[in-house]
Amino acid sequence: MPFDPQNLLDAYQVYLNFKRSSHYQDHARYIFPFFEGTYFAYRKIDVLRIVTIARAISSNPQYLDIGCGYGDFLNKVIEYIPSAIGIEKDATIYYCLKRPKPEHIVSLPIECMTQPIDVAFVGWMEPGVDFRLRVADIAKCVITTFDQGGQCGINGGCEYEEFGYSRVAWWRTPSWIDVNHELMNRYYTQQLIKDNVLRNSLIDLRSAHNLWYVYVRDGDLKDKINSHLINWLKKEGPISQTEKFEFEHILEQCGFQYDIRLPCTHTSDKLWEVHFE
Ligand SMILES: C[S@@+](CC[C@H](N)C(=O)[O-])C[C@H]1O[C@@H](n2cnc3c(N)ncnc32)[C@H](O)[C@@H]1O
Repeated sequence: MPFDPQNLLDAYQVYLNFKRSSHYQDHARYIFPFFEGTYFAYRKIDVLRIVTIARAISSNPQYLDIGCGYGDFLNKVIEYIPSAIGIEKDATIYYCLKRPKPEHIVSLPIECMTQPIDVAFVGWMEPGVDFRLRVADIAKCVITTFDQGGQCGINGGCEYEEFGYSRVAWWRTPSWIDVNHELMNRYYTQQLIKDNVLRNSLIDLRSAHNLWYVYVRDGDLKDKINSHLINWLKKEGPISQTEKFEFEHILEQCGFQYDIRLPCTHTSDKLWEVHFE
């Protein structure tokens, strides 16, 4: 659903006020993900995993971030894959932010893209938006993030099996809203929640809804990605402690540590744990 321009401008004003007056600048990406940050919370190791997968396909992969917004995640990937580009249909994002559109972001709907690509990254689409058929026409590998419970298309699925892909691997991270709930409870509702018992019971309800799925069509590619990712994961534990973005401390603070198991997710998987198919 397209945004109403006036709503967008009003929201942007609130964001600017926050930036002007808040002591907690690092919270902005988890409160205003459309203007700063992303709709999924990530660490540097997520970027490094995506880069590992892309390089398993080609040493110079054609990487496209679809619906990249103003390019927060794409800009991190570009550090490692300089040829990476993004496509974003809504140019009002740039007007609204009063920022020039970077050259590596094409302002078009994905429906206009016909060129084959190695990796399509689809980072969280609004519920109801579904361009999977278009992506399936052009991409060898699809990496997608979405909320558990489904959000795309009429039936809510964001999966790609019905387009002939098979899943290679998946992992779970928080969405911006999971982090936002923690921040709200800790910083913005202190007057309301003075009771420590209540506060701790809310911490126990903490969840992480965002799933990252990696898909390919070709069996050989699946094997290649598997072996590159497995090799990478052997090194990742120690690297995750040193290679971090500045904003990751908010994730630690909110209890979303690398490799932690959250009781509320009702599954045995740990955050950022990679599962192979
Ligand atoms: C919820 S935002 C997510 C932005 C970013 N990927 C993230 O996770 O923060 C979805 C973005 O996809 C864009 N989008 C929706 N349909 C699109 C299409 N057909 N082609 C290109 N971009 C599209 C929207 O304009 C919006 O900026």
